[in-house]
Amino acid sequence: MGLFDFLHRKEKPLGHEVDLGVLHTDIHSHLIPGIDDGARDLQTSLSLLRELEGLGYRKVITTPHVKSEVFPNDVRKLDLLCRDLRKHASDAGIGLDIEVGAEHFIDDSFGQRIEDGELKTFGDNYLLVELPFYAAPFGLEEILFDLQINGYRLVLAHPERYLYWTDDFSKFTSLKDRGILFQMNIMSLSLYFGKPVFDLAKKLIDNNMVELLGSDTHHHKHIEAIKEALHSPLLDKLIQSGNIINSKF
Ligand SMILES: [Fe+2]
Repeated sequence: MGLFDFLHRKEKPLGHEVDLGVLHTDIHSHLIPGIDDGARDLQTSLSLLRELEGLGYRKVITTPHVKSEVFPNDVRKLDLLCRDLRKHASDAGIGLDIEVGAEHFIDDSFGQRIEDGELKTFGDNYLLVELPFYAAPFGLEEILFDLQINGYRLVLAHPERYLYWTDDFSKFTSLKDRGILFQMNIMSLSLYFGKPVFDLAKKLIDNNMVELLGSDTHHHKHIEAIKEALHSPLLDKLIQSGNIINSKF
């Protein structure tokens, strides 16, 4: 870890740490206790919230997985669960503003969710969607287009992790041409997800295709990876680019 990672990425570490406080808001995390593969209990949630506050964030929009069969969370219950967490956090002296959205997995049952209106947005109708890590879902473009026609503003979670498009970069370009926002994971700029993910992240940044940053915090190892990424010149470049809009949420 540390210096070795930077050598491996052929980067010279920054002489200072990037200040995540300028982002104001984190828009991707898994901090509602016990409902997905994120924080397993309230104590863990509070401790992760404390870490995020320590990193400089003022607000988190936490985004539990909604993924049929694996995490069949009912989006109608999320506000109630968030209210609970907000109260516990405030009682524990945590000053973060806490809201809830969801990270919707696009799978075969997704069309039904659109029809049933079971989608949880954040901000002004923004919808965070993720794709499978092994292959793009069948009919993806139609699904995304349908969502846009229905008024949703799409945010694609961690595009740099969809390695099946590494050699088919035009797929990213065509999503951008449709106005889809890309949310990169900060820890992808360490080697947490490996060199191929780092390389794809770099290419997306170099092509000015990233508008949002997310911590995607599930557990403390993620916090450690984010702390390591604070020395990344690429993260610095991205934040300095003026393309990042986290603070509007
Ligand atoms: Fe996530």
